[in-house]
Amino acid sequence: MSNVIIRPDWQLPDSRITPERAYRDRRRFLREMGFAGGGLLTATLAERAALAAEAKGLYPAKRNIAYSPADLQTSKERAFTTYNNYYEFSTDKEAVVDRVDKFVIAPWPVKIHGLCEKPFTADAQELAAEFGVEERVYRFRCVEAWSAVVPWTGFELRKLLEKVQPKPEAKFVKFVTAFRPEQMPGVTRLRGYPWPYTEGLRIEEAMHPLTLMATGVYGKALPKQNGAPIRVVVPWKYGYKSGKSLVSIELVAEQPKTLWETLSPEEYPFESNVNPAVPHPRWSQASERQVDTGDRIRTLPLNGYAVQVGSLYKK
Ligand code: MTE
Repeated sequence: MSNVIIRPDWQLPDSRITPERAYRDRRRFLREMGFAGGGLLTATLAERAALAAEAKGLYPAKRNIAYSPADLQTSKERAFTTYNNYYEFSTDKEAVVDRVDKFVIAPWPVKIHGLCEKPFTADAQELAAEFGVEERVYRFRCVEAWSAVVPWTGFELRKLLEKVQPKPEAKFVKFVTAFRPEQMPGVTRLRGYPWPYTEGLRIEEAMHPLTLMATGVYGKALPKQNGAPIRVVVPWKYGYKSGKSLVSIELVAEQPKTLWETLSPEEYPFESNVNPAVPHPRWSQASERQVDTGDRIRTLPLNGYAVQVGSLYKK
C-alpha cells in the first residue's frame, strides 16, 4: 500500500490541473492586460482574466447548420460592417466605423437582474466562455428597408435567462445599452433623445431559441460599430430591436419604454415584427435593398422565420 498516493483535500485531481502551456499563455495574457507583477492580483481577478484569455480562442466558432439555411448567402463582410446604425456615434451610417476609436469595450460587466431568483453580473467575455458560442447565419432586416445575411457568433439568450431563474411575474425583458457621452461623439448632437438606448421583448420572445446574444460576427469578435462586446439579435424583428453594447438585461413585469417607441410610437411600435404587408408611415416595407449587392428583393413575413416563430403571434 505504500505507493498509493493519498491526496489532501486541497489538491486538485490531475485532470483539473492546467497544462503548462495554457498556464504560460494565461500569464502572457495577464501581462498584456497589465495585470501581472506586484502580487496585487486576486484569485478571482486572475480567474476572470484567464476566462477572457480563453474567450480569445472562441472565434471562428463552429456553424450550427440547423440555424443556418444552406440557401442563404452571407453578405460581404466589409459592406455589412461599415454601414451601421449606431446613433450614439453618428447618424451617418458610413461614418460610424470612423468614430468608435475612443469606445472602451473591456472590461465589460453585464448585469442580469430584476424579477429573478439568481441575479448576477459577469463580463461579456466570461458569458461567451461560460455558455459557449456557435455561428448562425441569419437574415437581418432594418426598418429602413435595407437588409443583409449575417454570420453571427453567440449563444441563446434563453441560456442566460434560465441561469437567473425568472420569477413568474417576469413578463418582459428590458435591454439597456451603454451610454458614455465622453466616448460616444454622436450623442451631443442628439441631446433630446431619451438615452440610454433601451429595447425590450416579451419573455416568450426572449426565450425563443432564435434570439441570440451575439459576441462575434464573420468569425471574429464583434467590431465596435456592430455592438461590441455583446448585443442581442432578434432576426424576425426590425433591426432596431437588436440593441448593441448591452450593459443590463432586466426581467420586468410591465412592457418597458423603448427609445424608439418613446420618440415615435406610430413608426416604431414595441412589437416591430418584420411585415411586408404593413407599410411604415413614410415608406413601403414590401421589399428591401441588399446592403452589399444593392439588389432589391421581396421582404418575407417575419423576415422568413414564420415557421419558427409564427406560433408566438397566434391570436
Ligand atoms: N443599438 C444602439 N445602442 N444604438 C443604435 O443606434 N441601432 C439599431 C440596432 N441597435 C442602434 C442599436 C438599428 S436601427 C439597427 S438597424 C441595428 O442596430 C444595426 O445594426 P448593425 O449596425 O450591426 O447593422
